[in-house]
Amino acid sequence: MSDLAGPDASPEARLRPSVVLGVAGGIAAYKAAELLRRFTESGHEVTVVPTPSALHFVGEATWAALSGKPVHTQVWESVHQVPHVRIGQAADLVVVAPATADLLARAAHGRADDLLTNVLLTARCPVVFAPAMHTEMWGHAATRANVATLRQRGALVLEPAVGRLTGADSGAGRLPGPDEIFETCREVLARGIGGRDLTGRTVVVSAGGTREPLDPVRYLGNRSSGRQGLALARAALARGAEVTLVAANVALPDPAGVKVVHVETTEQLRDAVVAAATSADAVVMAAAPADFRPVATTGTKIKKSPDGSVPALELTQTPDILAEISRDRLHPGQVVVGFAAETGDDTGTVLDLGRGKLARKGCDLLVVNDVRGGAVFGSEDNQAVLLGADGTEVDVPAGPKSSVAHAVWDEVARRLDAARPG
Ligand code: CTP
Repeated sequence: MSDLAGPDASPEARLRPSVVLGVAGGIAAYKAAELLRRFTESGHEVTVVPTPSALHFVGEATWAALSGKPVHTQVWESVHQVPHVRIGQAADLVVVAPATADLLARAAHGRADDLLTNVLLTARCPVVFAPAMHTEMWGHAATRANVATLRQRGALVLEPAVGRLTGADSGAGRLPGPDEIFETCREVLARGIGGRDLTGRTVVVSAGGTREPLDPVRYLGNRSSGRQGLALARAALARGAEVTLVAANVALPDPAGVKVVHVETTEQLRDAVVAAATSADAVVMAAAPADFRPVATTGTKIKKSPDGSVPALELTQTPDILAEISRDRLHPGQVVVGFAAETGDDTGTVLDLGRGKLARKGCDLLVVNDVRGGAVFGSEDNQAVLLGADGTEVDVPAGPKSSVAHAVWDEVARRLDAARPG
């Protein structure tokens, strides 16, 4: 908390988290106005620092009116307040959205040729870049190297979203939605600068529920919303990890900054998870894959028969992805985490069944949810017990799905650190 508003700021303003919103010169600058609103409406103190070229896209008046503060782009304005040092030093979070190829290059090389790059050099808080540019620029070797440099120094460079770009073309390079960038920033602010214990780690998270087609209009599926998987992906990103999210039929927006692979069936989920797991330090299977699929899928809709007879469904088992990943350990030292939604039955309690499943699957950790009465599915909250193959048992009290997510990453980080050489 600090006083970006200046020494005369009210005591109340000084208690609010101070965010610097850097805006570089790209067409997606208009989306940053919405991001600014999300910050101010949720009680953050925001100083907007556009680059001079950003003002070609959205003018100073918009930033000043929405932030309630004067807007500068150069170090030569209000020099008596030494803004080029004070703004960066006082920030709790700096987020640059959109971050253009030029801005990333200047930041990576430590340039200080406008106010925003000065702020980036003086900030000692977490820094988030939300790149937006054409696919060719994002894929260019120079940009790849600049992104790698910034990430290696601890900055969080979000993966751009894939979709329609400025012209008729589409590809990777879109600025993620303001709501998704905001959620990621909120996680990063909550973790603070010391909370990036997954920096340099690569993780895979699966989310949602798979669907096994029966005919062109019907499928076998389940009620998983994907919320817990999305919370895991966001939490890992905020802790510094490079995240691949394999999303099976998730109806929620993709979280900002993670690589997302969309799949439908258990077979597709398996292929995507295995491909990403070959270079992953941790794999978390939060998805609910269908355990069975129809042996045959018809190309035409199955019709009711006039005599009232009902079609017999012949099912076959789908691959058990968690068991396969746990057995094959595709990357040295990989930590594998499973989830188990249990109700308990006459063979054992929820935890008894969880322990049995942990042993059967061969994973390192099992997150056991008690789903008696339909709890958890689609809800914002969760409660769990994390069972470790090493005998540990961690209770996570009822709370938002992000609490369960961070508890899982606490356990994963502990295991990865313990296995670190030296
Ligand atoms: N899982 C998997 N592949 C499957 C089924 C489940 O990887 N085909 C994973 C889930 O993502 C989860 C864990 O295994 O992490 C446990 O899922 P669950 O449905 O509880 O386990 P099942 O093996 O299906 O056991 P059950 O007989 O209790 O349904």
